[in-house]
Amino acid sequence: MIKFLNLNSEKPYIHFQSLYQEALDKGQKGIEAISVSSYNDVKSEVEARYVNLKYIANNEWIFFSNYHSPKASQFESHSQVSILIYWASINTQIRMKAKICKTSAEFSDEHFQGRTKEKNALAISSNQSHTIESFDEVAKNFNETLESMTSQIARPNFWGGYSFTPYYFEFWQGHENRLNKRHVFEQQDSEWAERFLQP
Ligand SMILES: Cc1cc2nc3c(=O)[nH]c(=O)nc-3n(C[C@H](O)[C@H](O)[C@H](O)COP(=O)(O)O)c2cc1C
Repeated sequence: MIKFLNLNSEKPYIHFQSLYQEALDKGQKGIEAISVSSYNDVKSEVEARYVNLKYIANNEWIFFSNYHSPKASQFESHSQVSILIYWASINTQIRMKAKICKTSAEFSDEHFQGRTKEKNALAISSNQSHTIESFDEVAKNFNETLESMTSQIARPNFWGGYSFTPYYFEFWQGHENRLNKRHVFEQQDSEWAERFLQP
């Protein structure tokens, strides 16, 4: 589930929330999963991965991750990202282009304190995306961290939130006979220019 906090009242946000509710009502599984593509400028490669979108706070879309992970260094060197969502329950794809940055430490702290001990133990014990001898080693690090944790453990500085603010949205809704509807909102200065694309 995504938490909406003081959601922006502009058109693409209202449209998103209404589609989200429709997909939720139709029982969409994994509704918070979004694909984030970023640019690796060392290898000149684009890389994509799913993350769980936790909040939309006004116009900031927020997820959490490891600040030492490959995606983190990619966001650092190239802050433009592409986001992709597909909700099969309503046959809808949402594409976004956005700029990404870290959330405030306070926001990350608050979210971290609201998570389960197990989730936090994993966040602390994992050197995300680094190679390790075996899966047993992963489990060992996790269990050792979990056992050593007190209830009020502080958020490690290598883990926290990312916030992206879209400047482009495309809502694609599939219809019979391929009469698919493609509705674009693109930010121009402080306005959203709206147009339709051919399928
Ligand atoms: C549905 C789904 C949700 C995920 N959510 C997150 C997430 O919220 N944060 C995260 O760091 N990784 C998440 N992952 C794992 C990432 O896809 C990825 O494996 C990991 O972040 C390492 O990515 P990187 O090497 O590009 O930095 C999720 C994976 C899936 C399949």
